[in-house]
Amino acid sequence: MKRYSRKRLQTKLRAHPRIAWRWLLLVVLLLAGLAVGYWLVMRSVSKSSLQVKKQYEQYYFADSKYKGVKSRFVRRESGNERVLLEYPVTGQEAIDRVTASAIDQADAAFRQSVAHGSQFPYLMTETASFQVTHHDKAYISIVITTRQDTLGAHPSFMTYFWTFDKTTGNIVTLRELAGGSDRAVQAVLDQAKKSITELLQQQSKPPLALGDFMSESVLRNFVIADRQTIAWPFGQGAILPSAYGDVTARVSVADIAAHIQNPLAKSLLSVPEPPKPKPQSPSSSTPQYIRPSTSADCATTKCVALTFDDGPGVHTNRLLDMLDGQGVKATFFVLGSQVQKHPGSLRRMQMSGHQIGNHSWGHPDLTHIDSAQVQREMINTNTVIQQATGHVPTIARPPYGAVNNEVLAQLAQAGLSSILWSVDTRDWADRDNQIICHRAVAGARAGAIILMHDIHATSVDAVPCIIDGLAKQGYSLVTIRQLLGATVPGAIYTSG
Ligand code: NI
Repeated sequence: MKRYSRKRLQTKLRAHPRIAWRWLLLVVLLLAGLAVGYWLVMRSVSKSSLQVKKQYEQYYFADSKYKGVKSRFVRRESGNERVLLEYPVTGQEAIDRVTASAIDQADAAFRQSVAHGSQFPYLMTETASFQVTHHDKAYISIVITTRQDTLGAHPSFMTYFWTFDKTTGNIVTLRELAGGSDRAVQAVLDQAKKSITELLQQQSKPPLALGDFMSESVLRNFVIADRQTIAWPFGQGAILPSAYGDVTARVSVADIAAHIQNPLAKSLLSVPEPPKPKPQSPSSSTPQYIRPSTSADCATTKCVALTFDDGPGVHTNRLLDMLDGQGVKATFFVLGSQVQKHPGSLRRMQMSGHQIGNHSWGHPDLTHIDSAQVQREMINTNTVIQQATGHVPTIARPPYGAVNNEVLAQLAQAGLSSILWSVDTRDWADRDNQIICHRAVAGARAGAIILMHDIHATSVDAVPCIIDGLAKQGYSLVTIRQLLGATVPGAIYTSG
């Protein structure tokens, strides 16, 4: 049949060459039409997905440090181990190699413990997660935390941190920051020691001879906390005995400015011009990070504060059902504009003993608007919170965590302290309750402040797993007030 018809067509075409041309033309037109159609469809698809993405980013992470940083998860589960490792993927091979090898080394030690086995019929567990503390066009600062529970006396925590040059993938060292100068290195070491000494005093802990703990090699890697502050998030048990808790050394750029007037330091940080001869109140002009003396309860038990931003929203009541059902207290940083829509949720938070903080009215970056606008954002929100609950908040979380001296001054005037966070669950980026739960539980340390958003269904879905995971590690879930005690207006807190 087929053969016959083809033959017939061929004879026909040979007999009428004009028909052959018409056929060819038809095929060409058809193909061209298909190509144009395909192009049009693809253009509209990519345009719409781009628009969605842009809108999403504008609202949630216009200033996000995680832009361009992805996660790679490795999971192992067997009769005697349960492992979930989250590796940062920046796309810069050299950086990804360094961060992965830190996790792999920790994991190799863990595998040995697993191979040796345990006399207990429990699973050995290991988690790794990461935080990006700073990220700009040229540099990125990454902190990796691992937790291994090999059924010894205590689970072990490890922290690894670096600032990378994104172009070369190289680690920026303290000596490079110091422009290669011994004197400058020493100046930074002195300031870092001073910050740890102050931390011990604030906690009324016995003083230690810090010279033994804080040498250039220990402080070789650092992170940028913000462009006015460098930090060494050593974690627990790395440089001081575990009993000293989570230890972070911080140095104000203003306090070492005279020593780091070099091009590299100036591209990394906002280094003020060489200080004028009068060295009066050198650090009063820089944001003041406060390490609080923890409240009575949290001095004896391990406390963690769950915080929820950007609400109240349509999922908030479901979240309150979960929290109240478990007797867990949390802190809500609410938007004034949202409080107007859901005043009932706010009353309920207040009645159940949760704490309410101010997250501005409309979620602007407060460092990009003028003082009068900052004042309006905060005061109007305080007012609606008071109308709904009868109480004026004392804590605020600036949108995106963005503050400068001017903003802090305005917050102080409104009677608000600035509560940032130590664990970012990135629940806006990964709408996956298991990933969110993993980040919260893996990142938790005594005194941790965990950042989430109750406007996403997946974040609320993650809460039972988080409560369970933290309870298993012996943490009490508390409000910011319970964690930090009374806070100072205008000061910044990142953890307890
Ligand atoms: Ni927010």
